[in-house]
Amino acid sequence: MNRIYLYLFIVLQFQCAFLLNGLNPNKEDNTKNLLLLLFAVPSGYNWNLPPGFPTPVVPSVNPMSEAKVELGRFLFYDRSLSRDQSMSCSSCHIQEFAFADAKEFPSGITGEIHPRNSQHLSNVAYHPRLTWNNPLMTNLEIQSRVPMFGATPVELGLQNNDFVNRLNANSIYAPMFQRAFGDSSANEQNVRFALASFQRTMISGNSKFDQYNFRNNRSALNASEIRGMNLFNGERAECFHCHGGFNFTDTTFHGNSGSQEFFYHSNGIHTDAYYASLPNDKKGLFDVTGDSADIGKFRAPSLRNIGLTYPYMHDGTFMCDDVNNPNKAAGTGKTKQDCARDALTKVIQHYESGGVSHTAKNTTLIRPFTLSATERDDMVNFLLALTDNEFLTNPKFASPF
Ligand code: HEC
Ligand code: HEC
Repeated sequence: MNRIYLYLFIVLQFQCAFLLNGLNPNKEDNTKNLLLLLFAVPSGYNWNLPPGFPTPVVPSVNPMSEAKVELGRFLFYDRSLSRDQSMSCSSCHIQEFAFADAKEFPSGITGEIHPRNSQHLSNVAYHPRLTWNNPLMTNLEIQSRVPMFGATPVELGLQNNDFVNRLNANSIYAPMFQRAFGDSSANEQNVRFALASFQRTMISGNSKFDQYNFRNNRSALNASEIRGMNLFNGERAECFHCHGGFNFTDTTFHGNSGSQEFFYHSNGIHTDAYYASLPNDKKGLFDVTGDSADIGKFRAPSLRNIGLTYPYMHDGTFMCDDVNNPNKAAGTGKTKQDCARDALTKVIQHYESGGVSHTAKNTTLIRPFTLSATERDDMVNFLLALTDNEFLTNPKFASPF
């Protein structure tokens, strides 16, 4: 972990200058002070949070406002944000799949295939580290540069500020930028800041589990789902150690947490030999740290809306049966729920098996255990009760076009 703190330290230095971008960066060399400088619990913004949800923290350089959130929604769905105007953020982050895309791997405007699976964006405001395996991705303001400008792989493929000219040429935007930033013209930073504000509102907290756990509706979960929840939170299956808390991940940061917590683990899906055969961008945390102890380590994903974010794991290892087209459950005769049920059963069987032997595997928590067929179904039913239909259909997150 020490290595990561070193990275964190370097990144915070960079990030400070980067976020403030000409606004006179404060050159503190103390990580704690930098954190205080960069993050603050915002006041004056009405989050309208679900019961039981803490207030997200946001970088103090980009406070929340309704105007930014609304602008961000337009930008998230606007294909002007890609070089050839063929794709937007929403091409790989689709609301009906909790802003994942049901594909093993997405591809960008050139057809180049991304080395990892698209992530869902439910409750992304609470992740102190973004993406599957990159501890340098510490906030949404920075992360969007990767899909916008990244070349390995190409996603939206932007190479210059032509997209800013396109936005400025579209008359809908001048009043929106004016309201959001007090300046009617778009620029690269304001686009990223508005995207970040919009994504922070993507809060999902009205699943059957939430109704049961946070809204005191004791009939929201049935007996099987409750048994599944108890297994999930018990010492036999150990799931909660890595997928715990209100957001079902051990990597969280919010207004009530004292510090940012972030962890990377190997859950034993591949052997050392398999990883050795792969390019570095498929080797998890190792790709960033270069430390062989980090091969196969990934952030434990939030299991919110897990019933829609198949195929599972960073490389889509677990998918439903009889799907010839790996991209969609649609067209295979399977409903989304049946597809998720199949794939989640495989995930649980994987954990029951203790995973494959692999140097970085967390052998304390990933080790064989036994479930009966009924218990396995109970656990699947519980995971499916994390689906929040309101989130999947909320017009606040839908395309404005
Ligand atoms: C070509 C498909 C594609 C496009 C287009 C795309 N993304 Fe993504 N997104 C991904 C993939 C794949 C990941 C996982 C990245 C990784 O692990 O490196 C991801 C991860 C993310 C994450 C991290 C989520 C988490 O849980 O940590 C955020 C936030 C995000 N994308 C936002 C955006 C925004 C904003 C845009 C538009 C500017 C965008 N994405 C465009 C495919 C895409
Ligand atoms: C040691 C930590 C750890 C434990 C314990 C653990 N997981 Fe995971 N889980 C992870 C990591 C890390 C990933 C991502 C691995 C990858 O993508 O290669 C993951 C991925 C998943 C996914 C796929 C998520 C997605 O978005 O693709 C599911 C579902 C899941 N875990 C369920 C469970 C269940 C159920 C249990 C208990 C039986 C459990 N996990 C126990 C760390 C853990």
